[in-house]
Amino acid sequence: MVVTNTATVESNYDRKSELMAIDRSKAGIKGLVDAGLAKLPQVFVHDHLKLEMESGPTNANVEIPVIDLAGVNNDSTRRAEIIDQIRDACQKWGFFQVVNHGIPVTTLEETLNGIRRFHEQDPEAKEELYSRDDSKKVTFNTKIDMSQALTAYWRDTLTCVMAPHPPAPEELPSACREIMIDYTNNVMNLGLALFELLSEGLGLNSNHLKDIGCAEGLYIMGHYYPACPEPELTMGTGIHTDSGFLTVLLQDQMGGLQVLYDNQWIDVTPIRGALIINLGDLLQLMTNNKFISVYHRVLAKTVGPRISIASFFRTYIQPDNALRMYGPIKELLSEENPPLYKETNVVDYFKFKHVKGVEGTSALAHFKL
Ligand code: OGA
Ligand code: NI
Repeated sequence: MVVTNTATVESNYDRKSELMAIDRSKAGIKGLVDAGLAKLPQVFVHDHLKLEMESGPTNANVEIPVIDLAGVNNDSTRRAEIIDQIRDACQKWGFFQVVNHGIPVTTLEETLNGIRRFHEQDPEAKEELYSRDDSKKVTFNTKIDMSQALTAYWRDTLTCVMAPHPPAPEELPSACREIMIDYTNNVMNLGLALFELLSEGLGLNSNHLKDIGCAEGLYIMGHYYPACPEPELTMGTGIHTDSGFLTVLLQDQMGGLQVLYDNQWIDVTPIRGALIINLGDLLQLMTNNKFISVYHRVLAKTVGPRISIASFFRTYIQPDNALRMYGPIKELLSEENPPLYKETNVVDYFKFKHVKGVEGTSALAHFKL
């Protein structure tokens, strides 16, 4: 994709006050759209967009693998085949879709509906959750960054820290309270099953990844990407890798997610009832590059909204866990396969991740030996 309509970025606009006005409104991007906005505020115009777009052509003929999990727990031949497919996908793509994963389609649809209801309710009801305070378990905000020169994204997000210390039910918004709890239980179970399969795929004891805490911390982001009047000037979500262990992504039928594969952007085609699984930086570090964490992005579109729900299995910043070290798994190392990364703990990892921001190169490079 080549950008023909390249915006000239005015350098003299008051970025900070534009961002603060959006923040003060507490109504998110949806609030801007509902107010009838026809042109993008300057903070959303990506001056590096051209570069991003050109960092690889798109390829419409390739798809990420789709893996059918039917029979994984009661047919040992099938289980072995599934583990082979997962290993292959994790080595080549870092991304795959799963079907017959055990979470009912009605639960998936109702979760998407719940997040949509949250974002589409009266602005007054969302306002009280509008916050950038990381220490809160439930927040609503727009992806803008006051401190760094990063460009804003065209999306609003409800963030819920669901495990291991979930919020009290009444802290969750009433628009999606019950379904968030139900979906979390389902995703936690799927996560446990996936970490078993990944462990076996690595040739480890099936409990290995679970035993070192990979399935404990869950952080859920319910994204809402409103229709955008000038999508070629911005991004729904900019290029990034996920930082934790593993992400379970539920998307609606709108499309827009792309994964970088072989220097080309590949569309992740929506499949009703499927879930997208991708690996994060820490799992790449722990597998010493055997499994990969790859770049992805979400295009802004003139049609919308698009709803997606990203559930991140990650370490968590709690006193009982903060100093837990993560490094290349010893059982995977040998003389021919020496460690490529140093060990890190979650506190240092996130400190560095925050300095770098979320965009562009992954934080992994910092931990290379
Ligand atoms: C993310 C992400 C993709 C999407 O939240 O990290 O990549 O489809 N989301 O919203
Ligand atoms: Ni992501």
